[in-house]
Amino acid sequence: MRIELPKNVERFGAICFGGLQKVFELDSGIENGSITKNKHIIERIPYHDLCNIYKEMAIIIPVRNERLRLLDGVLCGIPHHCLPIIVSNSPLEPNNRFAMEEDALGDFCTFTNRNALIAHQKDPRLAKAFAEIGYTEILDGNGNVRDGKAEGMLIGTILARLAGKKYIGFVDADNYFPGSVEEYIREYASGFTIGSSPYTMVRIAWHSKPKIIKSKLFFKKWGRTSSYTNKMLNKLIGHYTGFETEIVKTGNAGEHAMTMDLAMVLDYSSGYSIEPYHIVNLLEKFGGILESPLSEVMKRKVEVFQIGSRNPHLHEVGNEDHIDRMLYLATQVVYHSPICPEALKDELKREMVSRKLVKSNEDMAKPSYFPVLSSIDYDSFMKSIRSTPYAKMIHKLLSGKI
Ligand code: GDP
Ligand code: CO
Repeated sequence: MRIELPKNVERFGAICFGGLQKVFELDSGIENGSITKNKHIIERIPYHDLCNIYKEMAIIIPVRNERLRLLDGVLCGIPHHCLPIIVSNSPLEPNNRFAMEEDALGDFCTFTNRNALIAHQKDPRLAKAFAEIGYTEILDGNGNVRDGKAEGMLIGTILARLAGKKYIGFVDADNYFPGSVEEYIREYASGFTIGSSPYTMVRIAWHSKPKIIKSKLFFKKWGRTSSYTNKMLNKLIGHYTGFETEIVKTGNAGEHAMTMDLAMVLDYSSGYSIEPYHIVNLLEKFGGILESPLSEVMKRKVEVFQIGSRNPHLHEVGNEDHIDRMLYLATQVVYHSPICPEALKDELKREMVSRKLVKSNEDMAKPSYFPVLSSIDYDSFMKSIRSTPYAKMIHKLLSGKI
């Protein structure tokens, strides 16, 4: 991978927020001794370095009722040395979609000689484990794990942590291009190679989304949700720095990765608002606006890289309702943040009213949040889930039996 280093970096408290980085070569070859250790404007990351990161990285795939062919393509794009972790919330009846996903993953692992984990979000053993360790925010009134993408991502993160992984990356299961999945993961690993902090996040800005307009392919750069979310987050930042900014380009980045150290200290919000909330929560915790609960992190720094991918992104198209819901959820987490200024709150409320997502006399509903994952007792959690196939696989991986 040959990639430019961020040209501009904006600093808020402990956060170094990097501008969009361009990729010049997807494959920059093997190490040939010509690399100097000095940082250049454009950095060459040899295959060997990427591979070292892959070996310590889990790729988490949240799935809910996606076409099996798409899931199969996504798996095929995951570099060999990464550990895939599927967390599924697909129906178990009348057709057991989850069993089909298990079979597809089983075949993939057999043919490629790999290991992977798969868990169902509604596995009662997971719900019981969460209840036992007191992480009840993830449970609904009936004691089951709630629906939602963020909930699936949290389970994936916990399994990756139990498997001893140092990095986690997320990819959606509804991606039509296996090549783009492979590219995102290369970019994750590149960010971790360039970054020097144990608290690093890499977010992908899609190259474009192909759409058919008047029977021609048109490569649209910014979707409706992403333009809106980015603008809102940039306004929030601009309020504190006093300078208008366009630094945030990846407010809705479903494709993102983190060091495990960072994943453990962030708070999360539920469902589809999790990605914009990453940025809000980073600002809340490490932006120097409120007192940070983690002086250890403040002494270091938190690095955020935003990398522009080269492959177009093609996934299942959501309907208008889905887009409206994403906009609303993203707005909710900014609106309810203790660092959201009154003027921005008013503006967001007006926007939601004009889009008919809230009535003018109604309050903006509060999102649900999940406490930091570092608060979990991992030994007890592992004990509670020990009878599951995924816990057995983790055990084998850790004991080096496979
Ligand atoms: P969009 O791409 O942001 O419009 O959102 P999608 O609807 O494509 O969802 C992103 C990913 O999350 C896809 O892989 C979905 O299958 C998956 N997903 C959606 N809802 C859930 C859920 O409740 N649980 C899990 N585990 N995954 C989900
Ligand atoms: Co999608």
